[in-house]
Amino acid sequence: MTEMKINLSKFKGKTIAIDGPAGSGKSTTARLLAARLGYRFLDTGAMYRALTLFALRYDIAPSDGGKLKVLAEKLPIEFKTQEDFNRVLINGEDVTDPIRSPEVNLHVSEVSAHLGVRQAMVAKQKELGKNGSIVAEGRDTTSVVFPDADLKVYLDASVEERAQRRLLDLARIGVSTNLEEQKADIERRDKFDSSREHSPLTRTRGVIVVDTTNMTIEGQIDHIIALFREVVK
Ligand code: DC
Repeated sequence: MTEMKINLSKFKGKTIAIDGPAGSGKSTTARLLAARLGYRFLDTGAMYRALTLFALRYDIAPSDGGKLKVLAEKLPIEFKTQEDFNRVLINGEDVTDPIRSPEVNLHVSEVSAHLGVRQAMVAKQKELGKNGSIVAEGRDTTSVVFPDADLKVYLDASVEERAQRRLLDLARIGVSTNLEEQKADIERRDKFDSSREHSPLTRTRGVIVVDTTNMTIEGQIDHIIALFREVVK
């Protein structure tokens, strides 16, 4: 059963980092977990997605690490929480939906693989998390951004299940696609994100692996809160 009451003072200022492959449920889990704990939610993937969207708009090639680094350093990425949802703003423009487009999906892995891009983004992420009381999720939050987080979780699920979840997410924002396409996109990104040279997606030391294939979102959150209770005694 969902546990509604949480002793917040005990958890104040802590950091939870959650990594995992595309569609593993990180974003939804981290967002709802943050809401339950009264924490902020940091979606690091949204930052790489916003950068990719603006690179496409400015005609910067996903292979052009030099120009992307400059853009990453300058892009004013802001998060605004609205009814537990994170809206992503750039210069006041709400780009929450466009950063999930298939075109951004196609290029975001390549854009996020450049060392200069990663350094710029990680610096922003560390700054955003410096006071704790945050749930961060992405590919390298447990290994590079917050290696000393109080709780480090690696969320996983089968490719089939992750593709199904993506299909539902995309339908919600009006993008029609099919399961095979989503499976292929997820497998391509898994391979790229795990084998890149800089900060690959990995099960770093100290992570607790949670397989969510047969878990509901509420079940995942309860499970992670139970793990958090164990480490914040
Ligand atoms: O979690 P997501 O699907 O929104 O992430 C989009 C892409 O961004 C993902 O394919 C790899 C990249 N990413 C990253 O390199 N490092 C992170 N911390 C988060 C995302």
